[in-house]
Amino acid sequence: MPFKRFSRRQFGGLAGSSAFGLSMMLSARSSTAQSDQATGIQNQRPPSDFPSGFLWGTATSAYQVEGAVNEDGRGPSIWDRFAHTPGTISDRSNGDTATDHYRLYKQDIQLMKSLGVKAYRFSIAWPRVFPEGTGSANPKGLDFYSRLVDELSANGIEPFATLYHWDLPQALQDRFGGWTSRDTSKAFADYAAHVTARLSDRVKHFFTINECSRLVHLGHGLGADAPGLKLPQSGLNQVRHHVALGHGLAVQAIRAHGRAGTRVGPAENAVSCIPAIETPANIRAAEIATRELNAGYLTVMLEGKYTDAYLARAGNDAPKFTADDLRVISSPIDFVGLNVYTPDHYVVAADNERGFTLAPFPASFPHMKASWLRPGPEAIYWVPRHVAKLWNVKSIYITENGTSGSDQPAADGTIYDVDRIMYLRNYLTQLQRATSEGVPVLGYFLWSLMDNFEWSDGYEQRFGIYHVDFDSKRRTPKLSAAFYRETIARNAVA
Ligand code: NOJ
Repeated sequence: MPFKRFSRRQFGGLAGSSAFGLSMMLSARSSTAQSDQATGIQNQRPPSDFPSGFLWGTATSAYQVEGAVNEDGRGPSIWDRFAHTPGTISDRSNGDTATDHYRLYKQDIQLMKSLGVKAYRFSIAWPRVFPEGTGSANPKGLDFYSRLVDELSANGIEPFATLYHWDLPQALQDRFGGWTSRDTSKAFADYAAHVTARLSDRVKHFFTINECSRLVHLGHGLGADAPGLKLPQSGLNQVRHHVALGHGLAVQAIRAHGRAGTRVGPAENAVSCIPAIETPANIRAAEIATRELNAGYLTVMLEGKYTDAYLARAGNDAPKFTADDLRVISSPIDFVGLNVYTPDHYVVAADNERGFTLAPFPASFPHMKASWLRPGPEAIYWVPRHVAKLWNVKSIYITENGTSGSDQPAADGTIYDVDRIMYLRNYLTQLQRATSEGVPVLGYFLWSLMDNFEWSDGYEQRFGIYHVDFDSKRRTPKLSAAFYRETIARNAVA
């Protein structure tokens, strides 16, 4: 079925141009004064504004959107190797061309502009910059990001760059065993220094590593992500330590080589712990669980030590580390980025050694199109709240949130992705609850601007608010694009 193409005017009408959005708001506001005569029910939801200056953005990552894997001197990454290994990707696809963002980036920036986003989170492909991982840089690689950043700035969109979104140069996997060696942590810092020295005149926010925990567990424990390793527990713990060390060394390198005003932090998918019922005891238990279940990631980054419980549980498999490593890992950061998709655990206070019980998920718990993606909007309230409270963090960005959907066009050609809108509306309502209570969330990056290569799910899970036809590369807004546009225009949940 062909997709209906919206003209800008139709899209504006669908989404609500800002003037339209404003008049809607004013009429809704004035109507609050009078409640429905018969029922007494007020016509307006309670005030739902986000703080002024709240940064609305969208996110993508290099291997998932760029394509052009052999262009301009790019070297191979572990994801090229993995995706080309039979049996790894559900639809037998790969990121060779993906959405062709490498060539179509200017068009994609216009999509962002039409949404009204003020920020774009993208990642830099390390193997474009250092095809061999270390050694001689490939200037053409960084040129692409330089052009991208200039185009964003020309369109009033602030660039937020992630340095590592899982596409390790294959050469480092071959030479050092990738993250199994601390040589990779050091190489990461050198690459981070090189990039910040050249881009920090225009890029003010850098994320070090995206989702340390997924790259450790799925990449090195379960073998479901590149490099496809299934290490024993001791090896896995050591990889986790090297990844955290890579983060810390990169923070130091960015401080040393970035211009004044360069800000840096991780983008982590913290294990999310939700109080099953909001009692003071359960809330405290959820905080304790957050600290323990993120011990190898945010906890060590923000406290400079592994918790006693983490080391005790690891026993003889504990990672080998020095006191200096811990100092490096906990180098001061400027913000914490949080990818929030799903509640990992509902927590109940318990009179046991840990102080909490993790409630098992009933089989009847609903999920979105992806079976792992259980909707639990309160996760986006609790995760930043726990992080702010546990570690006194003053600046938080939601670096990813969104969902895949089946996204079938209706008879009129439109993708009415009301499941995604339902998901986003509920999450954003909970995020607004957080900001209204003073949780310091400064911005939100919707995952994703457009459908893209969803790792081992290939192109079968579509997370975009723009549909991508992977043959023609044509982008078409889904109804959720109109929802997001309206939300941004109102600075309130639409
Ligand atoms: C988090 C990852 O950072 C991103 O690459 C992925 O596509 C989304 N989750 C959805 O699974």
